[in-house]
Amino acid sequence: MKTLVIAAHPNLEASTVNRAWKNRLSQEKDITVHDLYEAYPDFKIDVEKEQELLLKHDRIIFQFPFYWYSSPAILKEWQDVVLTYGWAYGAKGTKLHGKEFAIATSTGGPKEAYQAGGYNKYSMNELLKPFEAMANLTGMKILPAFLAQGVRTMSPEQIKESADQLAAYLTAAK
Ligand SMILES: Cc1cc2nc3c(=O)[nH]c(=O)nc-3n(C[C@H](O)[C@H](O)[C@H](O)COP(=O)(O)O)c2cc1C
Repeated sequence: MKTLVIAAHPNLEASTVNRAWKNRLSQEKDITVHDLYEAYPDFKIDVEKEQELLLKHDRIIFQFPFYWYSSPAILKEWQDVVLTYGWAYGAKGTKLHGKEFAIATSTGGPKEAYQAGGYNKYSMNELLKPFEAMANLTGMKILPAFLAQGVRTMSPEQIKESADQLAAYLTAAK
C-alpha cells in the first residue's frame, strides 16, 4: 500500500504539529510526503505531475492545519485544478476509483469546542464533509480522519506522540 500525503502548511517554520507530522511521515518508506507550498510557492500547480503522483499511490491523505474551518488555500486550488472532469469525476473520470482517502488535521480549538452548543457550534465530522463529498464523487473510500485538537496546549512529547500515532495509523496493515 503506497500512501501519498499531500501536505499544505503555508508557514512550516512556525509550525509545531504539521512540521512534526511531516518529518515523521517522511521516514516511512511506503509514504510519499508532498509539500504543496514548497512545490508551488506561486500557486501554479503542475496538473499533469500531480495526477501522475496520484496514480502511483493507493491511498491519499490531505494533511493540514485547520484554517477557517477548512484547509489552507492551496489545497482548495489543488482540488480545483487537479481533480478534472473526465479524469477524477464524470462517466469516464475513474482514475481515483478504489483509492483510500483520509484527512489529517490539527485545530487550535479543543475537541469540546467542536460540537452542537460548543464554541465552534459544529462538529469536525460536519465541517469535514466537503472533503468527504470530494472523496465520494471521485470514487475513493473514506477512512476516519486523524485529528490533533487544542494544539496550543500540546507539549513537545504529546506532539511527538501524535506524529508516531499518525505514522502508525498510515502504516498499519490493511
Ligand atoms: C489563518 C488561520 C486560521 C485558523 N483557523 C482556525 C479554525 O478555524 N479553527 C481552529 O480550531 N483553529 C484555527 N487556527 C489555528 C490553527 O489550526 C493551529 O494554529 C494549527 O493547527 C497549529 O498547527 P501547526 O503547529 O502545524 O501550525 C487558525 C490559524 C490560522 C493562522
